[in-house]
Amino acid sequence: MAQLWGGRFTKETDQLVYNFNASITFDQKFYKEDMEGSMAHVKMLAAVGILTEEERDQILSGIKGILVDVESGKLEITSEYEDIHSFVEATLIDRIGDAGKKLHTGRSRNDQVALDMRLYTRKEIENLKGLVKELLRVLHRLMKEHVDTFMPGFTHLQKAQPITLAHHFGAYMEMFKRDYGRLCDIYERMNYCPLGSGALAGTTYPLDRDMTAELLGFNGPTLNSMDSVSDRDYVIELLSAMSTIMMHLSRFSEEIIIWNSNEYRFVELDDAYSTGSSIMPQKKNPDIAELVRGKTGRVYGALMQILTTMKGIPLAYNKDMQEDKEFTFDAIDTVKGCLALFTGMIDTMTVNKEVMEDSAKNGFTNATDAADYLVNHGVPFRDAHGIVGQLVLYCIEKNISLDDMSLEEYKAISPVFEEDIYDAISLKTCVEKRETIGAPSKASMEKVIAINEAYLNEIV
Ligand code: ARG
Repeated sequence: MAQLWGGRFTKETDQLVYNFNASITFDQKFYKEDMEGSMAHVKMLAAVGILTEEERDQILSGIKGILVDVESGKLEITSEYEDIHSFVEATLIDRIGDAGKKLHTGRSRNDQVALDMRLYTRKEIENLKGLVKELLRVLHRLMKEHVDTFMPGFTHLQKAQPITLAHHFGAYMEMFKRDYGRLCDIYERMNYCPLGSGALAGTTYPLDRDMTAELLGFNGPTLNSMDSVSDRDYVIELLSAMSTIMMHLSRFSEEIIIWNSNEYRFVELDDAYSTGSSIMPQKKNPDIAELVRGKTGRVYGALMQILTTMKGIPLAYNKDMQEDKEFTFDAIDTVKGCLALFTGMIDTMTVNKEVMEDSAKNGFTNATDAADYLVNHGVPFRDAHGIVGQLVLYCIEKNISLDDMSLEEYKAISPVFEEDIYDAISLKTCVEKRETIGAPSKASMEKVIAINEAYLNEIV
């Protein structure tokens, strides 16, 4: 047991208590951030005259040495220490002696851990943004390639109206653009430095909090020391944004699973992104999409956990807050993995254009346009709806599509139909007539694609 406190205790900590209390097994994940924070703190202590330049340099090179040795594997972070903060401080004192004992001047583990967690999540937000950007780029490429790939659009998982694959991908493009924006917003809101808040009430030392904030790349220092050591709402925001990303990935995965099924065959996943069965030799399973869908629950779980942990904690720091780490780390790693794999999966899948187009043709997706044709020829919409309903029933009985009916058959149901009905209900016309912004026609899709192109260049 190696702990930083003990002066006022007369007995050793019970081993089970020690183990229960310790966080080194998981907070070692931010060893780099912990040392980065300490180095900024030490530079500031010297700048305000609390440390001499010599002490500062000794501590700085001591910490750098620890960092190098941890990274090279020469120095192992072991559970002999209570947490990563104790590990760094104890190792420093071991290596440089008395100067090391001054590192923690004007600091508490409460503001230290608040800083470490912020630095760590801030870095991970950047990583997540990079992965969302990659996904957006692949979606953008797919949209450009598929402005002419017709497919059925669905409601209730029933074929509804014809769209293009570019339009379908475009829906996800918008969702992931908003996800990207959420990550940017969180970053801006959380990017204030809690260091210098002490245990809860600041310190009596003349710390320069602006200096540490600047050294660590924050917009400035936080404005209330109690809030600084007990605020974890940025973790909640991040988990919420990640849950939304997973919800989007999960919906998309569900569609890929359906599209890749033997019944649909709209797409075929690349061998590199599929798995086989140990018993059924014919199988090629969409395990990646299923796992992404499945792991969504895990990320939602992390959000529920931290919301529940935080809900009853009085100000300021309480040990409950140590529980902000494990599930958050797991969720971040999970979302990063899912984003990377999902992107690779859709980047490499093959699109079966003909199958998609046939499916749109054979599902009466042009029925609304047939009704619109009648309306344009003076038939009230409600009557037109009834007439096209009869056409559909007729086609179902004969197992044909609206495009296959002869003009005589049309006229037998309504004399309003003329030869131009075929053009009016062709897939191409159905799509091309929908030309308001946001609709699937090639012209409106190309406008949106140009907007997305500018957006992607701007966020690079
Ligand atoms: N391991 C602790 C945490 O993650 C560090 C802060 C400890 N502070 C304290 N007062 N015991 O929250």
